[in-house]
Amino acid sequence: MANARGHFTSRFGFLMAAAGSAVGLGNIWGFPTQAASNGGGAFVLAYLILAFLLAYPALMAELIIGRHSNANIVTALSTLSERPLLRRIGGAVGYYGVLVVSLILSFYAIVAGWILAKFAAPLVQLLGFDDAAAWLAQGGLVRDLAACFLFSVLTMWIVARGVSQGIEAWSTRLMPTLAILLIALIVYVLNQPGAADGLRVYLLPDFSRVLDPSLLLSAMGQAFFSLSLGVGTMLVYGSYLGRALSEKDQQDKLPHIGATLTLLDTSFAFVAGLLIIPAMYVAQEQGIAIYGAAGELLAGPGLVLQVLPGLFDNMGNAGIWLAITFFALMTIAALTSSISMLEAPVSVATEKTGASRTRATLVIGCTIFLISAIIVMNFSALFDRVVSFTTEYSQPLLGLALSLFAGWVWHRDKKIQAIAAEQGVERGGFFWRVWPFYVRVVCPLLIIVTFTQSLLG
Ligand code: TRP
Repeated sequence: MANARGHFTSRFGFLMAAAGSAVGLGNIWGFPTQAASNGGGAFVLAYLILAFLLAYPALMAELIIGRHSNANIVTALSTLSERPLLRRIGGAVGYYGVLVVSLILSFYAIVAGWILAKFAAPLVQLLGFDDAAAWLAQGGLVRDLAACFLFSVLTMWIVARGVSQGIEAWSTRLMPTLAILLIALIVYVLNQPGAADGLRVYLLPDFSRVLDPSLLLSAMGQAFFSLSLGVGTMLVYGSYLGRALSEKDQQDKLPHIGATLTLLDTSFAFVAGLLIIPAMYVAQEQGIAIYGAAGELLAGPGLVLQVLPGLFDNMGNAGIWLAITFFALMTIAALTSSISMLEAPVSVATEKTGASRTRATLVIGCTIFLISAIIVMNFSALFDRVVSFTTEYSQPLLGLALSLFAGWVWHRDKKIQAIAAEQGVERGGFFWRVWPFYVRVVCPLLIIVTFTQSLLG
């Protein structure tokens, strides 16, 4: 390879980067609204169970394959087996993952652009440019394209700086900031009238919904999306653990690191719900509509781009600062996720073609921006289709493929031998006794069952 591979400089750096990838718009607006419209606490419960019983083992499959093969998803999957056919299938799965993550980034950057504009609007207003602020807050083709472009440039700028100088450095700065902003907002919102109603809707479980297949599928999709699974993001981050984690530590500590990551991701999602849902009911208290025409709780764009801004507008000066804080929080969450998405194709390009990181980042980043632009210009025809093709269908299928690869193609004995060969640790540990069987049989079955159930239903 022409380029030396990047790596994280410490386990903490890895954890911040990986948590930065996991914690994103999926946690802060996806999870709370899904919970509120799918039976409140019942969804939260189903989600927690799926996150630990299904997403965690799948996450471990990616981290372990990445850490062990020390490569991007395409190279990693096409070298797990000696058999030519399996190598070819592995490579194809890898490229499919790269395609999917690029498409995910293309719609994610559009949404992140809206948020960036909402963040900029009150700042510009404070400076006295009311017309510009109104334009930023309004939306429209040109604004959407410009904001998406700006967000894409930010993403490319960080990724071009490399793994430790770019991704790790920015994640370690931004993630603690994110946590502080989140807590500050929660404290404020929970003290407003109406907040208690929101807490009730969010937390009290409607158990009649727990076994509803559509609820389970939503929860599974949400878990895969939230942990950034199936597309090689976590795989390549795992591969950058290199020097931060010795081979011995890999066996000892990787299961623990993965569990911490899952816990961080679910905690952020859960805690974000303590902000978003009560905030909606505070807005309702002030006369803002929070239910759609069919009596459903507003979710997605309607919620984040109308209900909450409406609430901030009602709060006068405090509202301006609330809006800035809230959209800064969302922008940060989106940015640490989008850099992880861009890193997946960039790692493939640099390692497969020997292109420099800067060049690969520019070419791939601009291509993805062009796709975003096409989606923006054909929004109603394309947006929902791209979202459901990537997150509802492709991610679970790729998760299935990766579990099968980790469980069957990369045989347990070879795997354990490889690990045992380089350190003299005992083979044991609960995780290493259970996981190989689990990822081989239980994960694929769970994914297939949930998936087919939803297709039939
Ligand atoms: N997990 C992030 C979120 O919750 C989004 C994300 C980052 C992602 N990398 C990904 C989603 C890879 C799917 C695949 O917002």
